[in-house]
Amino acid sequence: MQSVSEIKSPIEKELKTFEEFFKNALKSNVSLMDKISHYIIKRKGKQMRPMFVFLTAKMLGEVNNSTFIAASMIELLHTATLVHDDVVDEANKRRGFFSINALWKNKIAVLVGDYLLSKGLLLAIDNDEFDLLRIMSVAVREMSEGELLQIKKSRKLDISEEVYYNIIRQKTAALIAASCQAGAASVKNDQVELLHQFGENCGMAFQIKDDLFDFGLGGKIGKPIGIDIKEKKMTLPLIYALENTSSSERKRILRLVKNHKEDTKKIKEVIDFVLNSDGIVYATKKMIEYKDKALEAISSFENNDAKQSLIGLVNYTIERTK
Ligand code: IPE
Ligand code: IPE
Ligand code: MG
Ligand code: MG
Repeated sequence: MQSVSEIKSPIEKELKTFEEFFKNALKSNVSLMDKISHYIIKRKGKQMRPMFVFLTAKMLGEVNNSTFIAASMIELLHTATLVHDDVVDEANKRRGFFSINALWKNKIAVLVGDYLLSKGLLLAIDNDEFDLLRIMSVAVREMSEGELLQIKKSRKLDISEEVYYNIIRQKTAALIAASCQAGAASVKNDQVELLHQFGENCGMAFQIKDDLFDFGLGGKIGKPIGIDIKEKKMTLPLIYALENTSSSERKRILRLVKNHKEDTKKIKEVIDFVLNSDGIVYATKKMIEYKDKALEAISSFENNDAKQSLIGLVNYTIERTK
């Protein structure tokens, strides 16, 4: 498997310039906003979405100013949704540090998220990038709908495998799809649809991986396990395990999920039920299927360094430990 630095090597210069671009895009005249931006920049994430933008663009053509705008927009919108997501999920940790809501309270976190969202969209408007604006706006709408659908399902716990895929397609895969689509659009490639398909399948694999972390599998430091279950968020390993057990066992587990939000021992019981079922194996199999579908979508493009790295990034998506 390629290392992260190997994956980044064809776009090293671009990623450096991007950091400056991103920092500038966050600038505000309000000092509180600037202070929070500083905090966000210092604790940056993996920046996988900008990597998807640059590698897609470079696989298909020459990285240009539109590519930088696309990458910055994506990371701004992604950051905005994380700030809001931590309010929604009442999470006090993000990227191994305190979340914005933990440090500055919900009121401020909501407004900071709105600020980041508007800055992302304005970046396109100020540069007359209306194709990018459309791509990003669609992704933001999808993400909000996905999050809402997820909340609705966590109330009744009546989620099927199909609904789970719809949720993760909207809340996560849509933005990764937009990253690849925007990367292609920025170099005027006409295979935008195919790149969207590629990104969407990567995004599906990405979220299944994220959901596997919650069962204590393969890492993710800075976040305790069982959070999803505590939030009554039913993910693929649990859904599959419930679909393949006796109805009395199903009732027992659902009761645990429904009524024991704060009881660590009961949450552990649910985790153990999943670990002792075929849920993990099944979810892993599905994740690999999505990864393979993603690779299939770009198989016809000519080989170059950027394409090799893009393949490396897809593999990293399912092998990563954070
Ligand atoms: C986290 O995304 C949100 C999900 C869609 C699961 P990342 O894992 O890419 O977050 P950062 O930016 O690296 O922190
Ligand atoms: C992340 O979703 C935010 C979006 C995809 C919009 P989750 O709530 O599932 O992910 P983490 O675990 O907080 O990163
Ligand atoms: Mg969350
Ligand atoms: Mg969430």
